Order: sequence, then C-alpha cells, then structure tokens
Amino acid sequence: MSHAEDHAGTRRDFLYYATAGAGAVATGAAVWPLVNQMNPSADVSALSSIFVDVSGVDVGTQLTVKWLGKPVFIRRRTADEIEAARAVALTDLVDPNAENANKPGADAADQNRTLDENGEWLVMMGVCTHLGCVPLGDGAGEFGGWFCPCHGSHYDTAGRIRKGPAPRNLNVPVAAFEGETTIKLG
Ligand code: FES
Repeated sequence: MSHAEDHAGTRRDFLYYATAGAGAVATGAAVWPLVNQMNPSADVSALSSIFVDVSGVDVGTQLTVKWLGKPVFIRRRTADEIEAARAVALTDLVDPNAENANKPGADAADQNRTLDENGEWLVMMGVCTHLGCVPLGDGAGEFGGWFCPCHGSHYDTAGRIRKGPAPRNLNVPVAAFEGETTIKLG
C-alpha cells in the first residue's frame, strides 16, 4: 500500500484537482471560479492540514488544490525551468527573501524555494502578492513562470516576482513530502 493510499481516509473529498494536464494553460484565473463554486463545504477552512496525492502530476504540469480557502499551486518543474530559475542572480530579484514558511529568513535562491533538493517540486500559494488575484501558470508571463493579468505582475519559474507591481515572491506555505507521492500542506 502506498502512502497515498494510507492517507486516502483522511483526504476525503475536499481536494480539488483543478488541472493536472497540458490543457491547463488558461486555468489560473479562468477555471478557479468554477472550482470555487464546486467547493461544497465550510469545513475546508477548519482544517489546518491536508494531504495531496501528486502521483498523477507529470513533469511540466501543475496541480491546483484548495487549502484554507485559497488555491495552492503544486508544480512539477521541467529541467529547463529548474535551470532557468537557478541561473538568476540574487541581485536581479525584486524580493530577496525566499518567502518560504519552511525556511524562515532564507534568501530567494531557487534552492530555498522548492520542496525537494533537486528542485522539481514547487509548492506556492496561488495568490498574487499585489492584490490577491490568482496568477496564470504553465509558463505564462515574460519569465516563463506565472503571470497575474490583473495589473501585470510577472513571476519566474521559481514563483519569484520579476516585473510589475507585486512586491513579493509568491508565498511558499508549510509543506513537506509524506512518502514519495503525497505532499502534506500545513
Ligand atoms: S493582483 Fe496581481 S498584479 Fe495586481
């Protein structure tokens, strides 16, 4: 039995898989309202931790789940995305802080943003740090990461703000792998 199955009883039905495929380009702002409407329960916000099965998330795709009433992006990055993020000098960043709840005070180097050492898994709140819109993903924006169309904020492949009015990198919530294919949020 996998860890994912272990947690099946606790995951219940409050995980929302907005997308996990290539057809997800326009999802961020477009699909989220629909997903939000599908949420039947107020008990979601009462839960501090959820377990997310990421076994179906392929390289180069993003899963969006709802946690504490907000979207969380779980992206499995490609080698190119990792390389691009790691090639950026810290001096080129708008926000020098990792904004990672798992690494308080760390700088915004790519290695301080991701869940695993190899940098394949990036988990972030899908909430623009300007005024709270849900950014578009899957390579959107001028830096190949996420783009918030509300006022034009561009985030790179590590979710770091690179251009536009947003003041901070996308927040990385408390998260950790529980086994190979399950991520615990909170
Ligand atoms: S809310 Fe994202 S740019 Fe303003």
